[in-house]
Amino acid sequence: MVFLPILDPVLGCASYLLGDDAVGTAVVVDPLEAVGADAYIVRAAEHGLAIEHIVESHVHADHASAAAALGAALRLPVSLHPDAHPTYPHRPLADGEEIAVGSLALTVWHTPGHTPDSLSLVARDTTRSQTPWFALTGDALFVGDVGRPDLVEGEGEEAVRAAAASLYRSLHQRLLTLPDEVEIYPAHYGASACGGLFMSRKPWSTVGFERRANRALQAPDEQSFLRHVLGLLKPPPPDARALRRRNLGLGPDTPAPEAGP
Ligand SMILES: [Fe+2]
Repeated sequence: MVFLPILDPVLGCASYLLGDDAVGTAVVVDPLEAVGADAYIVRAAEHGLAIEHIVESHVHADHASAAAALGAALRLPVSLHPDAHPTYPHRPLADGEEIAVGSLALTVWHTPGHTPDSLSLVARDTTRSQTPWFALTGDALFVGDVGRPDLVEGEGEEAVRAAAASLYRSLHQRLLTLPDEVEIYPAHYGASACGGLFMSRKPWSTVGFERRANRALQAPDEQSFLRHVLGLLKPPPPDARALRRRNLGLGPDTPAPEAGP
């Protein structure tokens, strides 16, 4: 298996190039414009891989995505959750669906809360084991913190509270059901705008360590979790709305699709 994290330390963004070099195929998750669409193609080629899937864990509000540009360059649709509603060519990913790249199997888990369309990908190397090895947790679970629930355009106080409750369920009913030894690879680290105050500058961790040491996961019940998350929200980044629209493929004045955020 090829596993290449590709980071932007300035904005605290993490993208991933994963593949099976035995069959020569790869998937790119959360490609970054700061890295450049072409760079992913070059990195894949350096490892003898052709990119077959491009996945967005959610519509990002803190940085410019390269997903649409990479999709256009490779003539591939971008795979994301149906609630994302981008304007560029895309393929909806349902909860429970599996993306297979040779022996690498990525099971899609819908883990909303940070945004309604947030996905996690639970990975297995099927040549070695049928049990999960690691998970790309998008902006649901970070190292030291969890995704903020207030960056979706137009949300009021009640909607943000509902999103935080949704995040609690995504964490406790989904991601924390994974065994302790499963590694987590989030979409952000450090001082990223998408998380709270306690995100680590170390990009990766395990489910077990976060279960014990992540402050947001120590809340004993949903109400305590809501008080913790909603009481510690950072100011939203001033360009969040513009970046979400850009990452949906919308111009500054283009109306969003009816069912979109
Ligand atoms: Fe995000």
